[in-house]
Amino acid sequence: MSETAADRVRALERFTAMHFSQDWFSQHIPIWTRLLHEFKGKAGLRILEIGTFEGRSTCWLLENIVTGEGAHIDCIDTFEGAEDMVALKLDMSKMRDVFESNIAPWRDRVTVYAGESAAVLRGLSGPFDLVYVDGSHRAPDVLADAVLSWPLLKVGGIMLFDDYLWQQDPRPEHCPRLGIDSFLRCQKG
Ligand SMILES: C[S@@+](CC[C@H](N)C(=O)[O-])C[C@H]1O[C@@H](n2cnc3c(N)ncnc32)[C@H](O)[C@@H]1O
Repeated sequence: MSETAADRVRALERFTAMHFSQDWFSQHIPIWTRLLHEFKGKAGLRILEIGTFEGRSTCWLLENIVTGEGAHIDCIDTFEGAEDMVALKLDMSKMRDVFESNIAPWRDRVTVYAGESAAVLRGLSGPFDLVYVDGSHRAPDVLADAVLSWPLLKVGGIMLFDDYLWQQDPRPEHCPRLGIDSFLRCQKG
């Protein structure tokens, strides 16, 4: 279905009502638009997002991809931030409220799990078409997120990792890359 001028005005109105303190996502939009094209508007689509923060990526997915009949996104976050976010001096106590306010236009398409991903993932049932891993940056946590969500992914589904090149901590075990590489070595082929 093609987008009308009225659709674009409504989208703009929704966007201006949202509040984000950070933008770690917009840079991904061109590649996500190409990569996720096949999922756009798909009925019954299921997405799992690990690490939602204030919902910037969630809102983009809801606005652009999770648009089909019965499509849904499951979001996991501690809503407590992480050690590498301390320098940002954010008020983490507001994160969940900001997230809820931002996703409000699509609330019926979202299930929120507040907790550590390693614990939440053990209780989830798939299958998901897309798993987006963007929670803890620590390599063992990223590896655990990948290992625990892999069985929840549909055959032919997509698993996306964020922050492969993130290097704000000089210790490799505190960066996602080591966890992602370790997982890919185990799942070779
Ligand atoms: C980089 S932010 C996510 C950004 C979001 N995807 C976006 O594009 O705006 C990482 C999030 O992961 C959450 N987080 C960190 N460690 C976690 C863990 N072990 N389990 C669940 N969430 C975690 C933090 O609270 C934070 O909100």
